[in-house]
Amino acid sequence: MTGDLVRLRKAVIPAAGLGTRFLPATKATPKEMLPVVDKPAIQYVVEEAVAAGLRDVLMVTGRNKRALEDHFDRNRELEEALDRKGDLARLEQVREPSGLAAVHYVRQGDPLGLGHAVLCAAPHVGDEPFAVLLGDDLIDPREPLLDRMAEVRRRFGGSVVALMEVDPDQIHLYGCAAVVPTPERDVVRIDGLVEKPDAARAPSNLAVIGRYVLDPAVFEVLAKTSPGRGGEIQLTDALQQLAQQPELGGPVHGVVFSGRRYDTGDRADYLRTVVRLACERDDLGPEFRSWLRAYTEHEMPR
Ligand code: G1P
Repeated sequence: MTGDLVRLRKAVIPAAGLGTRFLPATKATPKEMLPVVDKPAIQYVVEEAVAAGLRDVLMVTGRNKRALEDHFDRNRELEEALDRKGDLARLEQVREPSGLAAVHYVRQGDPLGLGHAVLCAAPHVGDEPFAVLLGDDLIDPREPLLDRMAEVRRRFGGSVVALMEVDPDQIHLYGCAAVVPTPERDVVRIDGLVEKPDAARAPSNLAVIGRYVLDPAVFEVLAKTSPGRGGEIQLTDALQQLAQQPELGGPVHGVVFSGRRYDTGDRADYLRTVVRLACERDDLGPEFRSWLRAYTEHEMPR
């Protein structure tokens, strides 16, 4: 195990996916840029990393992802136009993403899976622990999940994944963990991980959600991991290896999260996320909630 006492500084955000579930919206726009209310989904993820003190963000991108770079860059023309109009609130909103973090980019090239995307981050990350945040999961900013995971990593070393209890009929959509309890209610030791098992063969109903704090030893394991489910190099398989052979850079622990998580991974989940977050907004919420109440009561309010 390496880098134990090194503070967590770097976040890796895989963003090379094709977003096929949202076509045609994602034909020319990265799925990470789809608005969740009025901010692109990826901005919530970067804000979460920054809130946990991770100001060095590496996005693993692919073709057609230039909009991501533009979003986290300055846009002088737009800023000047808003400035001339005296629209300071919007000016602030436009500037904000470029000041959040030092955002770096690397291209994945071939879409060989999540494990391969993480491996593409190795030269940037080097020999220190790092976090991985998957963009399809949004964690409510009021939930300090990454802080808790970093704390567990500091105590036990190795790697830490976020887990959440799901209905058994949903487990085939996730990595699934076989776990041993620890004295701490929300922390488990993981002794097995399987990617998207059938409900009948799932070792538990604990699903891996898209937050990981990883020991850099995972890179060596990933480099030797053969393609698994779907012919892709799976991060789950590399973590399974670490869980089974902690001497390679383990152990692997899980933080069982019971807070608010929003899934933007498919269309229905995405719609639910937008509605929930819109309802909670101070500016939009009151009016939107009363419209929604009327809509669900009468189906077709004017
Ligand atoms: C990925 C991981 C899976 C994890 C999930 C969380 O799957 O491979 O283990 O449970 O993210 O969202 P994906 O949803 O990218 O297919």
